[in-house]
Amino acid sequence: MNKDVIIACDFSSAEATYEFLDKFTDEKPFVKIGMELFYAEGPAIVRNIKARGHKIFLDLKLHDIPNTVKKAMAVLSALDADIVNCHAAGTRAMMEAALEGLTRADGTRPLLIAVTQLTSTDQAAMENELLIHEPINEVVMKYAKNAKDAGLDGVVCSPREAADVHNYCGSGFLTITPGIRFADGDVGDQKRVMTPADAAKAGSDYIVVGRPITAAADPVAAYKRCVKEFIG
Ligand code: C5P
Repeated sequence: MNKDVIIACDFSSAEATYEFLDKFTDEKPFVKIGMELFYAEGPAIVRNIKARGHKIFLDLKLHDIPNTVKKAMAVLSALDADIVNCHAAGTRAMMEAALEGLTRADGTRPLLIAVTQLTSTDQAAMENELLIHEPINEVVMKYAKNAKDAGLDGVVCSPREAADVHNYCGSGFLTITPGIRFADGDVGDQKRVMTPADAAKAGSDYIVVGRPITAAADPVAAYKRCVKEFIG
């Protein structure tokens, strides 16, 4: 199992991202590129960060009809991202199509991770707007199981859900967990947080850490602290 710390590079331009990554001289952290940076800079940002030697989690959360997702995933696979994701709400057929699109001629492919229920969706919104009446934890577990049955590699979830996901879908099913804060750090807008050490104890496979590293006075030291707490 490759436990790792993924830095959420939530910057609005390539320039700001490179300025941040240039601070790292001895190590090449795994980075997450989200919609803002990808839509601002296009596929070149993925190629360039790859060429600098980083692994990339391309967090674009695809959700469309299966044929469209399959073709889009083939494009992302050619960019050589290491992890990509899609919404489990797109159904098993869409997730299977995503996997097919991602798989290269030589059989290799990036890891494919599902988003279950966004943490911004609460029980009330789910019931009143989406007409889903089951408890949210059961919905998350069912979506995780759908993803597993479709052949996906894991889910993005809270570190608090990691143990349940592993119980429900098996220990090899990956949990990628944001909402990480140092014990002595600012929580910011995250509601339910965990330290890197506690996320490790909870069984997270990868932690996604943004501002505790990107906004730190010394981002490299903050990254190293995260790795030490999470991996040892
Ligand atoms: O700065 P911070 O550590 O809060 O960043 C967390 C990252 O993880 C952000 O890129 C955020 O969009 C992402 N994320 C999250 N919660 C989710 C899914 C993704 O915080 N449920």
